[in-house]
Amino acid sequence: MTLITDLAPAAGCLLDAVPLLIDRTFPLAERFKKKLPQSIAELSRLLTSGRGERGASYLEKPEMLQAYLRYFLPWNLYRLSRLLPGLSLELCEGDAVTDLGSGPLTLPLALWISRPDLRSVPLEFRCIDRAGAVLRAGRRFFAALAEFTTGAETGTPWRFKTAAAALGAPVRGKPAALVTAVNVFNELYEDLPYRDHAGLAGKTRAYAGLLCRDAESSVLVVEPGVPRAGEFIACLRTALAEKGRLPLAPCPHAGPCPCPGGFSPGGKKTRWCHFAFDTAGAPADLHRLSAAAGIPKERAALSFLFSGSAKRSGKTAPAARPAETAEGGLPVRVLSDPFPVEGGNLYGRYGCSEKGLVLVRGEKSRIGALVPGSLFTAESVAQTRAETRDRKSGAFIIDIGAAAVRTAGTAAPASFRAGPRKRRTGS
Ligand SMILES: C[S@@+](CC[C@H](N)C(=O)[O-])C[C@H]1O[C@@H](n2cnc3c(N)ncnc32)[C@H](O)[C@@H]1O
Repeated sequence: MTLITDLAPAAGCLLDAVPLLIDRTFPLAERFKKKLPQSIAELSRLLTSGRGERGASYLEKPEMLQAYLRYFLPWNLYRLSRLLPGLSLELCEGDAVTDLGSGPLTLPLALWISRPDLRSVPLEFRCIDRAGAVLRAGRRFFAALAEFTTGAETGTPWRFKTAAAALGAPVRGKPAALVTAVNVFNELYEDLPYRDHAGLAGKTRAYAGLLCRDAESSVLVVEPGVPRAGEFIACLRTALAEKGRLPLAPCPHAGPCPCPGGFSPGGKKTRWCHFAFDTAGAPADLHRLSAAAGIPKERAALSFLFSGSAKRSGKTAPAARPAETAEGGLPVRVLSDPFPVEGGNLYGRYGCSEKGLVLVRGEKSRIGALVPGSLFTAESVAQTRAETRDRKSGAFIIDIGAAAVRTAGTAAPASFRAGPRKRRTGS
């Protein structure tokens, strides 16, 4: 299984129903409908180049809220529905999930769509956002989606506590099993100058404090797949590791990140960790609306980090982790699409490993068969040419021959995986 999974047919059907359900739950007068593509384009501008004009409570404004619900929410549901099933999110009866900057409850909605095995598990979601209007809209939409999925009589054992508050507000109740923050931190560091790495690292340490209030909780942070967000995710990885939370995904190791983003000492942009994937499975209505708004999407991208709890990860220093698994192989996470390498007969893809950035090289068909986001093990690094570096990228070269690799699951190698915690429902 790869990290970015194909949509299960049932999840695809539910996603297809989302635009219609949104229309039914939040009916728009005809004159607002006509203006919708314009409002979406405006909100997109305010979230990127025009962020200085956005204002803190933008989702309290009806026009912006409608634009968010009809464009950003369905796209975020699509991206999360491709990501969540591939993560070893282990939630069991009675667990609590704290979602920071929840917006219209996007993360719980995506879990509902993409993890049907969790729908019958009693869970409590604490959703925090400074905009009360978007939380209320999320509650209404969750009720509509749950009713659409299960029927009115069945109901759902999921409970929601929403709080219109700042991210640092106290969260009451038992410790969370999982703390999440999706597409929110970029709104907090966006005022920093683009090249201020130290400032970003400092702010990120403070955010890590918000994410790690409970020693028991795992942490999942998802951000847009853009360079600055990749740099933030690498800072977060360091900040969480300092708190004893080792990365479970996408990193196949806990050593230094070979894709930290930001700029090299020479001022060049460096590689950042992100995953891009097709949007063919997104609802046709959403594609049409996106085209009308002038922001069509052929590819979706995200950067993310999933880390274990401090208790379960232990306090082992990441650098002390072995580069190779007990079996002697080197876990490699495939990062890029294939490209031809010198001479034209061979193809390569970049990957991430504890030995740093690697260039996996081999025949076109074998390289083409590796899926971006998938994890494989280079059986024996001694058999590879890991001592040879690619001149262009500085990556270690791993030549894959017929028997040199074995594919693995999506989670981190066994040596980094946390042990079971009571009764779990995991993917
Ligand atoms: C881009 S939206 C993401 C919403 C949702 N997580 C999603 O992925 O669709 C960012 C959300 O973070 C909230 N937010 C931003 N800064 C915040 C803060 N300091 N305290 C609480 N909420 C905040 C905004 O109100 C907004 O709902």
